[in-house]
Amino acid sequence: MKKNQFIWKRKHLLGLRSLSREEIEHILDTAKGFEQISTRSIKKAPTLRGKVVVNLFFEDSTRTRNSFALAANRLSADVIEFTQKSSSVSKGETLLDTAKNLEAMGIDIVVIRHSAGGVPKFLSRNINASVVNAGDGFCEHPTQALLDTYTIREIKGSLEGLKIAIVGDIAHSRVARSDIYAMTKLGAQVILVGPPTLMPAKVEQLPVKVSYSLDDILGELDVINMLRIQFERLGSNPFPSIKEYSHYFGLTVDRMKKAKKDILVMHPGPINRGLEMESEVADGPNSVILQQVKNGLAVRMAVLFLVNQGAMMRQKIKDRRERLED
Ligand code: CP
Repeated sequence: MKKNQFIWKRKHLLGLRSLSREEIEHILDTAKGFEQISTRSIKKAPTLRGKVVVNLFFEDSTRTRNSFALAANRLSADVIEFTQKSSSVSKGETLLDTAKNLEAMGIDIVVIRHSAGGVPKFLSRNINASVVNAGDGFCEHPTQALLDTYTIREIKGSLEGLKIAIVGDIAHSRVARSDIYAMTKLGAQVILVGPPTLMPAKVEQLPVKVSYSLDDILGELDVINMLRIQFERLGSNPFPSIKEYSHYFGLTVDRMKKAKKDILVMHPGPINRGLEMESEVADGPNSVILQQVKNGLAVRMAVLFLVNQGAMMRQKIKDRRERLED
């Protein structure tokens, strides 16, 4: 099927594990089309006029939350910002009651971040609105991986045949999981790098290679994605000291001398400067970290547009079925 004949059917975006290559490419192509809205003097399109998007964040966020809010605003949707601390969740209201009460106000799309894996799927089965996963536990962070692949595709043309390392705290990283699904489906070879204590359980079941030495593979890489050590999720100390971790796995100016001249340096943010990478590398010529953030806006506009399109298509099919049954 040709790209322009592709019909998007999904009402939710819960993760990338179940998406096909064609679906991922369709999101990236749609995002490309939305990019130019942000270059206009009036940065708005009427695409989601009359729709309501709720940002339902149960964990802190700078990039994802603001990017979704701006994306929804650019598409003329009304946006409700929900924070756990200032809501009735602090009085004991459940997640489902919270979502159902918001739904009673007529919301169309819920963007949810939660510390528990599976919460977006649970919501999608219990409310009528579209659900977009903005990060659930250690499971998935699909829009981060979409903006990562968008950025690589924009600069390198394609992910086909590229060698991409994801370095650091893989065990606790929802970004790593979504990146693995997206990047391998688009034809890249993914290598997970870090100490054994930060590798996920059943890593052999993932479509990746594993290396415990960054120095052994750095020279072969086209892209290196450095992950934050998620201290808030660590039960016990996974390495003897921060200094030792940085010595073996930190991206330093000195270590960068071994890398290809055109290697892309990525990080989902927030960065622990001086731990997983030195500031000179984070702000250096190979870094595309702020380009990732910029591209996140177009990607999230595409996701909001597509899940709304999927919801409308499903509603039409349901209405037609009901008419036929009458
Ligand atoms: N990359 C990412 O999810 O950043 P935030 O936690 O700031 O949203």
